[in-house]
Amino acid sequence: MTPKRDRLDERSRILAAAAALFENEGIARASRRTVANAADVPTRAVTSVGRNRTDLLRTVVGDLPFPPTSQRIQKQAADSQDNPMETILTVARDAFGAPASVWDIRELQAVVLAPFDDSLADVVRQRIRLRWEAAASVIQQLRGSGAVDSAIDDDAATLHLLAVGAGLALLEPLIPQSTEAAAWLGLVARLLESLAAVDPPGSSYSGPRLPWRIRVVIAASPGATARVLRVMALLRADVRSMLSHAHPGDRQLLDLVVDVPADITRDAIEAALSTVSRQTIVIRGTAQDAEDLFTRVIDGATDLVADPAAAPAAAAALVLADSWQVTSATSGPNSSAEVMRLQWTPDLHVVLTRAGAPFVEVERGRASALLRLVDALSRAPEGTGSFGWRVTLKGGIPVAIRLARPADAEAVAAMHSRCTEQDRYQRYFAPVSQWREDQLRKLAGGHRGATLVAETSDGAIIGLGNVFPEQPDSTKAAEIAVIVEHEWQGWGLGQRLLELLIDLATRMEFDQAIALVLADNAAMMTMLEHTRLTWIRDTNPDLPGTVVRLIAALKPTADA
Ligand SMILES: CC(C)(COP(=O)(O)OP(=O)(O)OC[C@H]1O[C@@H](n2cnc3c(N)ncnc32)[C@H](O)[C@@H]1OP(=O)(O)O)[C@@H](O)C(=O)NCCC(=O)NCCS
Repeated sequence: MTPKRDRLDERSRILAAAAALFENEGIARASRRTVANAADVPTRAVTSVGRNRTDLLRTVVGDLPFPPTSQRIQKQAADSQDNPMETILTVARDAFGAPASVWDIRELQAVVLAPFDDSLADVVRQRIRLRWEAAASVIQQLRGSGAVDSAIDDDAATLHLLAVGAGLALLEPLIPQSTEAAAWLGLVARLLESLAAVDPPGSSYSGPRLPWRIRVVIAASPGATARVLRVMALLRADVRSMLSHAHPGDRQLLDLVVDVPADITRDAIEAALSTVSRQTIVIRGTAQDAEDLFTRVIDGATDLVADPAAAPAAAAALVLADSWQVTSATSGPNSSAEVMRLQWTPDLHVVLTRAGAPFVEVERGRASALLRLVDALSRAPEGTGSFGWRVTLKGGIPVAIRLARPADAEAVAAMHSRCTEQDRYQRYFAPVSQWREDQLRKLAGGHRGATLVAETSDGAIIGLGNVFPEQPDSTKAAEIAVIVEHEWQGWGLGQRLLELLIDLATRMEFDQAIALVLADNAAMMTMLEHTRLTWIRDTNPDLPGTVVRLIAALKPTADA
């Protein structure tokens, strides 16, 4: 080994020892002697590398690589291929969560001492200049995309960016609380939003545009709405119409029709909206979407009068379904988050599907309203049962019996709450006092078979009848069940509902009707006896002893 090489080794050992001491103990605790001890060299060897510890710090800091987050900004500055907003958010998350990833503790010590030492100040200024240039360039990139308001000064924004990072790194070791990195993202996003231009450059864009329909669920507050619109502004969208509807859980559903520059993809729209909402649906619109909504709705209704068969397609368009199909009343999937099954006629159901975006209450209400319109247009007089039946109870009271709609769920729940505990027990064999949402939805349609509701002239639901496959996939046996609101019992409604359900089961080509009845339910037993079917008691070991299973063959009786 040459003496020169020895000296080089010694110098790097001394600097490494000084760097470690400055990092772990701080410059106040380090001295030439402690550095010499750590490097295992005589003190005078340390003096030849740095006259004092500030001198050593200057050399150590001059050689320090920039920390990773700082390098990320420099990379973005040099190559604007990556989205500057994304880089700033990533950097912010790292910087706020782990400030040392932006400012090395040794560099910070140099920053603090630099005002008192000219040669240290030179090194620090040079490093800050590099950081400044990189930050300024990223701010320019952000400005280009409209994320910085023209009223905000470049230098002020750059200094702010640098100072926040340095300040955090200085304070972090002294502050007892530590905050999750992810928690800072929301703060940074909001800070960036406050710097953003009201309308980004390019809002006067005159190129081609495409129509989109957007549905987002956000907090029920004007501020949340403003944020959605802000995102639209960043996309240079023309907002053609916006409607807000209450959504469960203090939220609102926003329906937007927007025209967006043709070069912005669906993915880009979804990504932009994901910063304000987790529930977003983006679907290509049509040129007609931009027309006045009320005109469109009335035109749509007129089309349905001319052609009620268009109802399924119209329902699908109304709820932005991905696809729709008309199935027989006894096949196809049941309602679930991504499937909306609607009774259309007693024989046909409409099944709407939308992957990845659960249907929300308002949409069920809309589809329901549309099918109600079709109902009203086509309701047959008593007896024919195309869409519904007008029946007259004992005492001459008129009642409408029709297929249930999702929008009936609340009225069906209300009817159950007006029934006695015993009525409910007789129907469900369980003391049901709380109606879970999905159970209600099922009771109001949304499954294979049929659900009928009986409605008074003032719109109250007073009876419910179900016919559904006894086993989920069975096409053989249909279970039939009825419940009539307590106050309305004894007027002949139960019997009428039961007969209609038997007709429907026959029409759906089930072979057998099944009734599960509590042995002491005299009213139901009498009703069954009064039907045109012959009921036979069946023993089923799976059922509790108090429940009787009654079976009747459907076809022969129906043919009779
Ligand atoms: C069973 C139920 C649906 C009957 O509904 P309803 O509208 O009162 O019945 P109707 O008025 O149509 O009466 C039908 C027949 O049963 C008879 N009936 C009614 N209550 C009766 C009773 N407690 N005991 C004996 N017969 C009775 C009626 O007299 C009538 O016969 P009629 O035509 O010879 O007069 C109703 O009582 C109810 O909802 N009960 C709770 C739920 C239930 O038990 N569901 C059946 C299990 S699936």
